[in-house]
Amino acid sequence: MFKYLNHVVISKFVMAITGIILILFITGHALGNLQIFLGKEALNKYAAFLQGLGEFLWIERIGLLVAALLHIITSIYLKLYNYNARPDKYVVKRYIKAKLNSRTMIWTGLMIAAFVIYHLLHFTVGSIQPENYKYKEIYTQNAYSVEYNANATSLSSQDNDNDANIGVNKILYERHDVYKMVVLGFKNPYISIFYIVAVILLGFHISHAVQSFFQTLGWNSPKYFTWIEKLSVAYGYFIAIAFLIVPLSILLGIIGSNV
Ligand code: HEM
Repeated sequence: MFKYLNHVVISKFVMAITGIILILFITGHALGNLQIFLGKEALNKYAAFLQGLGEFLWIERIGLLVAALLHIITSIYLKLYNYNARPDKYVVKRYIKAKLNSRTMIWTGLMIAAFVIYHLLHFTVGSIQPENYKYKEIYTQNAYSVEYNANATSLSSQDNDNDANIGVNKILYERHDVYKMVVLGFKNPYISIFYIVAVILLGFHISHAVQSFFQTLGWNSPKYFTWIEKLSVAYGYFIAIAFLIVPLSILLGIIGSNV
């Protein structure tokens, strides 16, 4: 009995820890995406900064992948365990207390996982709509050059102007035009609607996940739990809206109409 109870408790903790990692990433990603409203320069600069993180980017990616896999495998394990432990598994299903999104967690979760695979192929690998992935943007950056007289005996502030010459050159760089890729991608209504549906499912998932996390930690006294439930639902709404506002604004021509 204790052995199985421990399994369940450990599994719930794995779900909670990996869930927090995924939610932190999702929140950061949703906020990062909102930079599209600041314009092309802001979004492309942000994307280039992320791409330039080198090994840190790979550490983040591997961490996310491990967290996502553990989250999915543990959720399937718990679902099967609960199903097998149910005394009435062959009788008519009785959902007495479970609310709709708590029962559908496994399904919304699996659909989100399928969406993420599509999304990675779309915006990270570029194999979906490859014609939008190929765009590069040329941007300039100031490069400062200092010419100085190596024979000068003094570099004191008075004779600095004579000994050192500071020049500004513009250097051309190339970066991925993420702004154009996203705008052209979401101008396709089928793709936009697909993303909007996926992030609404994500919102449902998160609105139950946050309360479930607090329950796992044992913070489920009736006094606070109504508030936790409200907070959880509000967070789900916030994430869904923060994501869906991007394709919706592009579809309505509010941003990117000049692309
Ligand atoms: C409208 C919604 C979304 C937009 C506009 C969007 C945009 C993007 C873009 C442009 C990239 C590629 C960044 C780059 O390589 O420069 C990306 C990567 C990614 N997105 Fe999204 N995304 C959205 C929704 C989501 C959602 C809902 C999830 C997860 C549930 C998600 C998970 C990821 C992941 C895991 C990556 C790869 C990160 C990496 O390469 O390290 N995205 N997204």
